[in-house]
Amino acid sequence: MKTPISGTIRHSTDDDKPRIHEIAVQAWTPIFDRYRMIVGDEIWNDIWKGWEEGWFINAAGIVTELDDEIMGFATWEAPVEGIFGELGGNAVDPRFQGRGIGTAQMRWVVDNFHIKGYKCLKVHTGMDPAHGPARAEYRNVGMRLGVKRSQYYNYLDEVARIPIRSSLSFRWADPDDIDLISQMCRKAWGSVYESIMNTVGHEIFEIAFKETLNHRVDESTKRAADAPRKVRIVMEDGCPAGFAFLGATHQQKLGKIFTLGVTPEFRGKGIGCAICVDAFNTFRERNLRYVSLSADLGEVNEQTRQMCWNAGLYRELPSIDYYMML
Ligand SMILES: CC(C)(COP(=O)(O)OP(=O)(O)OC[C@H]1O[C@@H](n2cnc3c(N)ncnc32)[C@H](O)[C@@H]1OP(=O)(O)O)[C@@H](O)C(=O)NCCC(=O)NCCS
Repeated sequence: MKTPISGTIRHSTDDDKPRIHEIAVQAWTPIFDRYRMIVGDEIWNDIWKGWEEGWFINAAGIVTELDDEIMGFATWEAPVEGIFGELGGNAVDPRFQGRGIGTAQMRWVVDNFHIKGYKCLKVHTGMDPAHGPARAEYRNVGMRLGVKRSQYYNYLDEVARIPIRSSLSFRWADPDDIDLISQMCRKAWGSVYESIMNTVGHEIFEIAFKETLNHRVDESTKRAADAPRKVRIVMEDGCPAGFAFLGATHQQKLGKIFTLGVTPEFRGKGIGCAICVDAFNTFRERNLRYVSLSADLGEVNEQTRQMCWNAGLYRELPSIDYYMML
């Protein structure tokens, strides 16, 4: 154990921004290196190369100073002013890590929310080994209840090529499908929010998630109404069974499965995996090279992981949102 250091914590000023940027780039380099190990050089180069440029160039919050040198910084946000706070990006110059500065900064931010009467806090962080110290500093200030999410990647020539069974048919949505999409989203995500509630408990759920399902369904319905040709619908023997919202960033050669859902009565029959395989075909037709799938908060469970592995989406960047009541 290294000797703890306690510097002075103060609010940052505009003059601190270049130093904050410098610390952020140094501190996040091992994290981006870890992403490279997980996704492979080619995907990494097309998606993250040059990440340093804009990294925390405009951050404001607190800094920790010792002998006129800034050693670390922390930021925060307020998703619901006066009630629900969020710990934001924070880092410590690698030369001074492991000496209690990160935890002291988090204590300062948590205490500050407490003094202002906030009820609940959250923080988002990675579940990969490079985020180990970050998870430790959040644990140190009492943040332990977590809900996971994941981003899965792979090369389109590495994913599974599974034949789609004949009882399944796929089509693009059309404007008449909007009500159907709204109903399917609500059915598919109902169980997700139930599992989040079981994980975080009623008190946190009421503050952090109360209207989230309604907002998400409304937003997705609007997206489908604006661009129905980005929504795939899958039918099993003529009955609607699931959906996927697709997109692409052509510059990065990346096809994106933004969200995918199978309604509860059709689960456990390989339909999620078939939706992925159908999306892979669509992306190949568009000359894309990679695919990503987002599993949102509460959607990472045994079934999702199995579906991703079956489909060959095994390059996973897992993350977690921790919550606590103050
Ligand atoms: C996260 C970070 C700010 C922590 O700063 P720090 O000053 O080193 O933090 P502390 O010294 O207070 O605590 C470090 C903790 O990490 C633990 N730790 C160190 N290396 C670790 C590893 N490889 N895996 C898991 N835990 C580790 C230490 O044991 C310590 O925990 P403890 O207090 O329970 O013993 C710093 O590591 C950093 O800048 N990381 C890169 C940027 C980042 O991840 N920011 C947060 C993004 S969500």
